[in-house]
Amino acid sequence: MTQYKKTQQDLIAAPKTWLVTGVAGFIGSNLLETLLKLNQTVVGLDNFATGYQKNLDEVQGLVSSEQWQRFSFIEGDIRSFADCQKACSGIDYVLHQAALGSVPRSLADPITTNDVNISGFLNMLTAARDAEVKSFTYAASSSTYGDHPGLPKVEYKIGKPLSPYAVTKYVNELYADVFARSYGFKSVGLRYFNVFGRRQDPDGAYAAVIPKWTAAMIKNDTVFINGDGDTSRDFCYIENTVQANILAATTQNSEAINQVYNVAIGDRTTLNELFNAIKSALADNGVTYEQEPTYRDFRPGDVRHSQADVSKANSLLGYEPKFNISQGIDEAMAWYVRKLK
Ligand SMILES: NC(=O)c1ccc[n+]([C@@H]2O[C@H](COP(=O)([O-])OP(=O)(O)OC[C@H]3O[C@@H](n4cnc5c(N)ncnc54)[C@H](O)[C@@H]3O)[C@@H](O)[C@H]2O)c1
Repeated sequence: MTQYKKTQQDLIAAPKTWLVTGVAGFIGSNLLETLLKLNQTVVGLDNFATGYQKNLDEVQGLVSSEQWQRFSFIEGDIRSFADCQKACSGIDYVLHQAALGSVPRSLADPITTNDVNISGFLNMLTAARDAEVKSFTYAASSSTYGDHPGLPKVEYKIGKPLSPYAVTKYVNELYADVFARSYGFKSVGLRYFNVFGRRQDPDGAYAAVIPKWTAAMIKNDTVFINGDGDTSRDFCYIENTVQANILAATTQNSEAINQVYNVAIGDRTTLNELFNAIKSALADNGVTYEQEPTYRDFRPGDVRHSQADVSKANSLLGYEPKFNISQGIDEAMAWYVRKLK
């Protein structure tokens, strides 16, 4: 039996109370869905900066009414310490996802990104420490590898950050580490690599590449590729990310605590390959797209190639990503066609 399967069984047998910050967002709402389906009690915190009530409504429709009653929502802001204190009260496990994502957003507005991603993070860390939660798992980022050229990326070899966003995510790791040494506080950082899947927002200037292209193809609009299309990423389907969070939060392995982990597949897909994969999965769902992509300038702050070594998460947490990119794309495209067509 996989560690994940065993952990799920243990949680069903002895349910816990979880806090998911950023619960109305893409990753947060998927964590909520899985936790409720495991009969856990969940508190959610969100200020709807980039998340949506419709994501919570969708989760409500996917769980039983009994399971939904185990969810309570706090509309609040991690920049308010009082909101963080309220949210952390009585919690076993924190899954801290709330942040302002996007490299370009951070270049356009570094001050707000800093306030939310650093001050907000420190508020959450402090409130969670004071509430004596069992563990604190937080969304770190592959952007922390910055200009380090090595591939695949291993956790201990990082370069200089290439954007304000990357700085904020690295500072999260530094604070988590100092809280471990100063207060004995238990945390785990998960460096996500381009997560994708249902409920990832296709709208707005800062949409991620997969939902943005998918929406463009469904509407028969132009798809823009930044650069020559050889830029590559380790695209990770949301189910794998959810698995990593649950394993990290509940780990009984003392060596696994106060560490950061790559969360991805360990594979690399170029933007040109991605374009074709989305196009063909949409065709399987009855959407034909016949335009060629339009190439434009590289985007400032973007790293050229990204691919994770996930062996650390595998050996210390028992992480075994179940979905490769094409299985993930197939599931995600079926969802987008249902929602956007
Ligand atoms: N999606 C990815 O590929 C990826 C990659 C690396 C890291 N991450 C990190 O994962 C986390 C979740 O990202 P996501 O893709 O689900 O993004 P998202 O924008 O869908 O979710 C973020 C959520 O946080 C909420 N939020 C923002 N500011 C807040 C504040 N001040 N107070 C309370 N809530 C606030 C938003 O309203 C939103 O619901 C973020 O920390 C992000 O930096 C994501």
